[in-house]
Amino acid sequence: MRQTMIGKGRQTRDGIRIYEQADFAGMHRAGELAARILDEIAEHVFPGQTTGEIDRLIEDKVNAAGAKSATIGYRGYEHASCISVNHVVCHGIPGDKKLKDGDILNIDVTVIVDGWFGDTSRMFVAGKLNRKAERLIQVTYDSLMLGIEAVKPGNTFGDIGHAIQSYAESQRMSVVRDFCGHGLGRVFHAPPNVLHYGRPGTGARLEPGMFFTIEPMINLGRPETKVLADDWTAVTRDKSLSAQFEHSVGVTEDGVEIFTNSPAGKFHPTY
Ligand code: MF3
Ligand code: CO
Ligand code: CO
Repeated sequence: MRQTMIGKGRQTRDGIRIYEQADFAGMHRAGELAARILDEIAEHVFPGQTTGEIDRLIEDKVNAAGAKSATIGYRGYEHASCISVNHVVCHGIPGDKKLKDGDILNIDVTVIVDGWFGDTSRMFVAGKLNRKAERLIQVTYDSLMLGIEAVKPGNTFGDIGHAIQSYAESQRMSVVRDFCGHGLGRVFHAPPNVLHYGRPGTGARLEPGMFFTIEPMINLGRPETKVLADDWTAVTRDKSLSAQFEHSVGVTEDGVEIFTNSPAGKFHPTY
């Protein structure tokens, strides 16, 4: 048996859990629900809508599916989603502020289905998308997909980060360093930290049965962020526009499976 075969309850030296073949099905169920909720929320994103109302709809959908929100009660967080508008990088708290025409927003949903965590986020637009925002969204989407293309046994986490960083920076945009992707599965956040920047061949080696998220945050301006006084909302220090997409994935014997694909084929906001 090859050393990279999917094993039983194994962990790597870096503390990364190796899941079993049968566990992929649980992750697909959780990931698909999170993705379907984002599909269904698209029609509720429009100028004048509040992020608080979007979050309430998301919470209802999680409950209607008989699932659990992973974020409600997580480190004191009280909402079923994070909604990050314009220069908010991540962890935006849903509230009473109304969306304006041309706002871009990331909606991030994590659900628990039968103990499995599905974590995904994507970009939405209220009203009409302007050209700069469209380019940022496109580059961020392509960065995530290039990162996912680097997922296969034998590659390293540094290869994933490098794929994302080299592309984003070639487009004169910057990669946020202060937040990263993460292992997940039976837990929300587990090793490793999945950095969205890095050098080829560095970091832990990818093995079949590793489950993690890739969730690059890309800025039009500089990469630095700060967290607001609410202790959650992360914004760009220079107030530049920021975008993010997130998939939960699993490493297979010869590549990758995406757990959070959109059932409706709507992961990208414009096509
Ligand atoms: N879903 C986020 C992630 O991608 C985490 C949100 S934690 C919360 O890891 F508490 F802010 F909701
Ligand atoms: Co995540
Ligand atoms: Co998330």
